[in-house]
Amino acid sequence: MSNPLAHPDHPSPNPSRNDHLHDVLARSLQRRQLLKLGTGVAAATFLAGPAAALGSTLMGQRNTRMLGFKAVVADSADSVRVPEGYTATPFVPWGTPLFSQGPGSVWHGDGSESAADQARQVGDNHDGLHFFPIDGKSNREGLLVMNHEYSTTTKASGHQHYLTLFGPQPAPADTLERVNKAINAWGCSVIHIRREVTGDWRVVLDSAFNRRITSATPMRLTGPAAGDALLQTQTDPSGTWVLGTINNCGNGFTPWGTYLTCEENFNNNFGTQIEPQVDGRSAALRRYGIASGQTGYAWEKQHTRFDYKKEPNEANRFGWVVEIDPFDPTSTPKKRTALGRFKHENAAHRVNRDQRVVVYMGDDQANDYIYKFVSDGTYQPGHRVHNANLLDSGKLYVAKFHDGAASGDFMGTGEWLLLDKDANPVLRDDPRFANQAAVLVHARLAADALGATKMDRPEWVAVHPSTGEVYVTLTNHSARSQTDDANPRANNVYGQIVRWRELGNDAAATTFEWDIFVLAGNPVVHPERSDLRSGSDNISAHNHFNSPDGLAFDRFGRLWIQTDGNDSNTQAFAGQGNNQMLVADPLSKDIRRFLVGPKGCEITGVAFTPDSKTLFVNIQHPGEKGGSHWPEGGSAMPRSATLIITKNDGGVIGS
Ligand code: FEO
Ligand code: CA
Ligand code: CA
Repeated sequence: MSNPLAHPDHPSPNPSRNDHLHDVLARSLQRRQLLKLGTGVAAATFLAGPAAALGSTLMGQRNTRMLGFKAVVADSADSVRVPEGYTATPFVPWGTPLFSQGPGSVWHGDGSESAADQARQVGDNHDGLHFFPIDGKSNREGLLVMNHEYSTTTKASGHQHYLTLFGPQPAPADTLERVNKAINAWGCSVIHIRREVTGDWRVVLDSAFNRRITSATPMRLTGPAAGDALLQTQTDPSGTWVLGTINNCGNGFTPWGTYLTCEENFNNNFGTQIEPQVDGRSAALRRYGIASGQTGYAWEKQHTRFDYKKEPNEANRFGWVVEIDPFDPTSTPKKRTALGRFKHENAAHRVNRDQRVVVYMGDDQANDYIYKFVSDGTYQPGHRVHNANLLDSGKLYVAKFHDGAASGDFMGTGEWLLLDKDANPVLRDDPRFANQAAVLVHARLAADALGATKMDRPEWVAVHPSTGEVYVTLTNHSARSQTDDANPRANNVYGQIVRWRELGNDAAATTFEWDIFVLAGNPVVHPERSDLRSGSDNISAHNHFNSPDGLAFDRFGRLWIQTDGNDSNTQAFAGQGNNQMLVADPLSKDIRRFLVGPKGCEITGVAFTPDSKTLFVNIQHPGEKGGSHWPEGGSAMPRSATLIITKNDGGVIGS
């Protein structure tokens, strides 16, 4: 996240005056005696509904098996630590060949591969991922599908250089070939993998399923905005097809066996080479964070579609959720415009009791919003053709959080505001939105107009497999005002996890109740428990962390929390070590550290085999500030890679 291009943590371009969650919280946090999260009135009340009814089942698991491992200690080593009795093995690092012949069939170890090679090797900066069993149930063979968010850069000689993409020495993308290598290092990988009798997982080289989807792969724009004037370019007057997917961050999957990849910081790839000192951006481009002038990635130098003065609509064709059918290597990925355009983090679904499909999504920017999509059609198990385009038609909502009946109790109510040009009079009367396509393409602007609640950078959303409660990581908002370690809650450097329950446990409901599951903090540096920087009561000297990001439930209801934050291990972050993964019990709110990553990485992406006995997790950008040689060690370049985690006794991970 410290990459200035990939994760700008600067004040949001959101100029609206909507309430920020911090404002809601500031009013709510006045009475510290009610902040005893986990044991207090708030938790008891919040869990009085359907979740409490499930308590007896989950409680039993909690006491015996929910968190059945010994916590890992935080540190700053250049290695991966997992609990005693577990093994973590690096797998499919950046550059791993997917084919035994032809371009890219050899990884040279020095980043000397060409653009053509890279297009047939595993991409860079692994992020969200999912395991699709080959036959719907195998624990030993399947398609591992993952995102490659970007390539890490660093400042060198006053210019942005790619840190390792072209070799051990930072180098600029100063040629077409180099820009194309970057383009081919991003996107997604579909990797056919199999567990051998030895227990080791291998890539099935040359499998027909093996596929790279890059930032140049042709894909369709589908749904209500497809074909709209806002999506038309000189190259594509139809406004229905686009080359590539960019900044694929978190992910989702569907019950019908497809993968959802989420386009996040696409804004960093759009700039201009034409009179770069002259701004020339529309209000909408600014709201989406496109900076004026040239970009550090320099893609617009070689491909004019990334130049916003030449193709002002090209940026409108990024910032979507893209659906990929991993089982059909010839399929065309589809950008689902019904889900709205913003800096998508991930996409967490729930099949509602009426079989409509609900997708929850965060927009990762300081002061941006949480959204949900409710499909018009219903999911029909086993009817793949019927389900194929369920994400093309439905209602899109944005969240507004209220204090509820009382302030100071870390809980409240909320409502889902409908982003519909015809049904919502605010949007109907707003001349900025000519039609529903404009509402979807400029979902941030529409949400501003409706008064959505500004959040502390919404990252991943996760839906509890039994209760349907929804959890979201709000990673931090350190640039809200003057950064000051003495006032970290006003300048939220630690982040929190908020959860909500839809009215009547109906995922399509338009109101909900919410509370804070955990306020991250540092109780060692800030020992006074009345100081909110110490964190909520489920944060201790043994489990404190900052900047929750990745988030997922396993099928037993364990909540896996991954961090992408400050790993300096000093000052406000003393004792927190490298980025890490923790596990929480949603009922007791106990949180325990499960994994610590190597230097300079973030931990991201959670996927299990159906039996929950193999866990796949990604290590992204080890050594982004130098000092790492993970995973190979010695003097090797650091490489993003997947971890395969197993329990030595063959048991369920986390139990
Ligand atoms: Fe790519 Fe918001 O993390
Ligand atoms: Ca309240
Ligand atoms: Ca993330």
